[in-house]
Amino acid sequence: MTQAYVIDKMISAKAIDARIEELCREIKSAFASTEKLIVVGLLRGSFVFIADLVRELDMNVEVDFLETSSYGDSMQSSREVRILKDLRGEIEGQDVLVVEDIVDTGHTLSHVLQLLRSRKPRKLETIALLDKPSRRETDIRATWTGFEIPDEFVVGYGIDYAQRNRNLPFIGCVRFPEAEAG
Ligand code: PRP
Repeated sequence: MTQAYVIDKMISAKAIDARIEELCREIKSAFASTEKLIVVGLLRGSFVFIADLVRELDMNVEVDFLETSSYGDSMQSSREVRILKDLRGEIEGQDVLVVEDIVDTGHTLSHVLQLLRSRKPRKLETIALLDKPSRRETDIRATWTGFEIPDEFVVGYGIDYAQRNRNLPFIGCVRFPEAEAG
């Protein structure tokens, strides 16, 4: 059973909306000459972010998904990232935007970019809603970042705690009152 926890609001739905508008202006400008943008969501955490993002991108987009191995119990830096579900479409010669909910150690994004680069897209950029730079174990940074956050356990807006709370409309910070009380 999951230990009792509470969720403190960290980033409101309104703040996320406003940031997405800003980010989309930058993305549209960076891909101004693009005829079709392939937007690749990394499952499962990015499903809410990608849905809001593509609705704000008034340009020709195609949506595809990749699923990588879950975080699971493995927290070691050398952990291997496996592809559980590959893209449906080809990306060779195409313009691609990879959408991540959070960059933590950076292993997931790093592995995914290595894989996608080998397929020779014309242009490959990345966006992450959240970034925890203090946790980084790889030399990677998304092209666009929504919010830099401290090393807190976050949930909501697609991000889970033991598969729960993905449906919260805001980003919350998980606290364990019993542990805090000692
Ligand atoms: C989480 C998150 C990122 C990744 C970030 O996914 O959604 O994809 O971990 O961590 P990293 O930078 O240390 O690699 P997870 O594997 O928990 O799966 P989920 O998206 O299905 O929740």
